[in-house]
Amino acid sequence: MGVSDHHHDDVEGGVNRESGDDYLRREFEPIASELWSHNAKWWQDGFTAGADPEYEEQILPIVAAWSEGRKKVVEIGTGEGQILRHLASIQDRELLIGFDPTLEQIAVANQRGVADYLQAGANEVPLASGSFDLAIACLVFEHIPDIDGALSEVYRLLEAGGSFLFLLNHPLFQTPDSGWVDDTSFGEQYWRVGRYLEERQNIEEVEKDVFIPFVHRTLSSYLNAAIAKGLILAKIYEPAPPQGFLELAPEYYEAQYIPRLLALHFVKGY
Ligand SMILES: C[S@@+](CC[C@H](N)C(=O)[O-])C[C@H]1O[C@@H](n2cnc3c(N)ncnc32)[C@H](O)[C@@H]1O
Repeated sequence: MGVSDHHHDDVEGGVNRESGDDYLRREFEPIASELWSHNAKWWQDGFTAGADPEYEEQILPIVAAWSEGRKKVVEIGTGEGQILRHLASIQDRELLIGFDPTLEQIAVANQRGVADYLQAGANEVPLASGSFDLAIACLVFEHIPDIDGALSEVYRLLEAGGSFLFLLNHPLFQTPDSGWVDDTSFGEQYWRVGRYLEERQNIEEVEKDVFIPFVHRTLSSYLNAAIAKGLILAKIYEPAPPQGFLELAPEYYEAQYIPRLLALHFVKGY
């Protein structure tokens, strides 16, 4: 989950900080789409198929535990499909469908197999209403400009009583310009939060020469948007980073006290 190792160098040349729907349509979305295509292999090589300790030790086990007994599963922004592959490996499912707007992800998802993977964005999903008892979105909504449209689709796809597992880079801590500060005068380390209250789209250089589009929102924006759709919050979980991740940078001792992931379980009411 290196995308959340935010060193947050905004690229001011390609994307400015103008806000509003027109700007999103005109400027941000085409650039974002191009960047996801360009970086698909970076994601596949670094974060899937056992490469990433946060997926292996934390994300896949959480999703598996919270999906128990659910049979008809849809995943929004499935990437190369690792979550559905994992769910299929532990329990028989009647229906497993993942979708993602990035063709380079869907092509690899279909090669790697098990579920049905199709090309679609979160705001217009070509699947029938009420077809699923579980919807999953993992590290995806922080890349989607139109959160209301995407949540409407999640709500529409679920049957009454269905679950929505909503995993995010923790919006309180993984803000633009967040990151570790080594205070050598006092011998202390701080996690700098950055401008949490400023909601905006930006493009971050998450590692050298890898630019990823993000949309930062506050925690209340996420929760209120889901509640406004009629989704009921059933559980919230803020785990400590897993051991395998902490071992990658043991010099950051304080990292064990700062959550990177936020996992929310919503239910669509009857
Ligand atoms: C960080 S990856 C996560 C992939 C997958 N959910 C996983 O956990 O392995 C983010 C994914 O979101 C997809 N994405 C970007 N914009 C999207 C949108 N508007 N609707 C749906 N997915 C989108 C990207 O193509 C990318 O595959």
